[in-house]
Amino acid sequence: MIGPLDSWLRDKASARADSGLRRRTVAIRENSVDLASNDYLGLSRDPRVVGAAAEALHRYGAGSRASRLVTGTLNVHADLEQALCELTGQPAALVFSSGYAANTGLLTALGDADTLIISDQHVHASLIDGARLSRSPVVIAEHNNVEHVAQLLKERAQTRAVVVVESIYSVLGDHAPLKELAAACELHGALLVVDEAHGIGVAGLGRGLVYQEGLARHPHVVLTVTLSKSLGAQGGAVLGSELLRDHLVNVARPFIFDTALAPASAAAAAEACRIILREPDLAERLHENGRVIAEALGIKHAIAAVQSVPIESPELALRTAEALRDRGILVGCFRPPSVPDGVSRLRLTARANVELQELMDALREVQDVLADLGARPTGVAA
Ligand SMILES: Cc1ncc(COP(=O)(O)O)c(C=O)c1O
Repeated sequence: MIGPLDSWLRDKASARADSGLRRRTVAIRENSVDLASNDYLGLSRDPRVVGAAAEALHRYGAGSRASRLVTGTLNVHADLEQALCELTGQPAALVFSSGYAANTGLLTALGDADTLIISDQHVHASLIDGARLSRSPVVIAEHNNVEHVAQLLKERAQTRAVVVVESIYSVLGDHAPLKELAAACELHGALLVVDEAHGIGVAGLGRGLVYQEGLARHPHVVLTVTLSKSLGAQGGAVLGSELLRDHLVNVARPFIFDTALAPASAAAAAEACRIILREPDLAERLHENGRVIAEALGIKHAIAAVQSVPIESPELALRTAEALRDRGILVGCFRPPSVPDGVSRLRLTARANVELQELMDALREVQDVLADLGARPTGVAA
């Protein structure tokens, strides 16, 4: 018998199908060539990272057993916070159980009715949700348009303002004009929140775009990171002053009411931070592979792990990604409404640990599939 919930769910599913959006969870073939994941430096399987996780697992157990404020704060969390500070050049860090929680925790802790949040048009869902939950008035700034941000800052009625951007954007692989944005925030007495999810491990020889641009201890700049991309683990963090850290410990609900990050993830991410600091050539290898991808597919090289290939229609983008998956090659496929500019695209990630020959072979397959389906990259990405 179909109950009221089932019939409502079926209606919802058929509305999604009609609009061409059907998401599915599919387990990947283990021996696939990975040009889709966010493990940009290949550290999730690095024996040193896995070894650190295993040691923490045996020492502390599988879970943290409580929130950070009860009994959940372990030495591995303090060690990770220090390693993140050393990597990014920031004075203080607070670890959350995901990047999503770090973003919602930070924005809800900063916002109120008298604080305007100015959010770049292309920011990640976790920042959008954080802004919504913060009870602040929110306005959207045109993507990477510093003049628009400055104008919104100047004309605001609210006492305080927070500008929210990503350092490197996750779908297009383009980057924010951080120096100019920080200067505008300084001029107008605002705070710049930079999500370095796709910048850590990639820009600034792995230390992030904020560090590369000399903004590491800028009084108007705060950053968030995820531990689940270049750091190969899981979790998230906010980095800034001690005063900010203390504020978050006291008011950020996704920190206070959440079980502490699992010890194995914390130890893995700390080890990954140390490896990135010691081995700046990892980021260089990633960029070399990015150049190879861009050249093979005739797109402009983005100084990012993400190389974005615009495709003329959502159907063709999907069919290309599916045909490649059948050939054992994983590429990302983004279609409206999940793309900020309405353009469907394949998203290939340049990873540091893919051998050149393997990459070239995979790219030949990508070219073949594109030609077989008559799908053409439609121009320059980013
Ligand atoms: C820009 C950005 N911020 C935040 C997140 C969320 O990070 P996490 O997966 O650790 O929750 C992601 C993950 O996809 C992201 O791309």
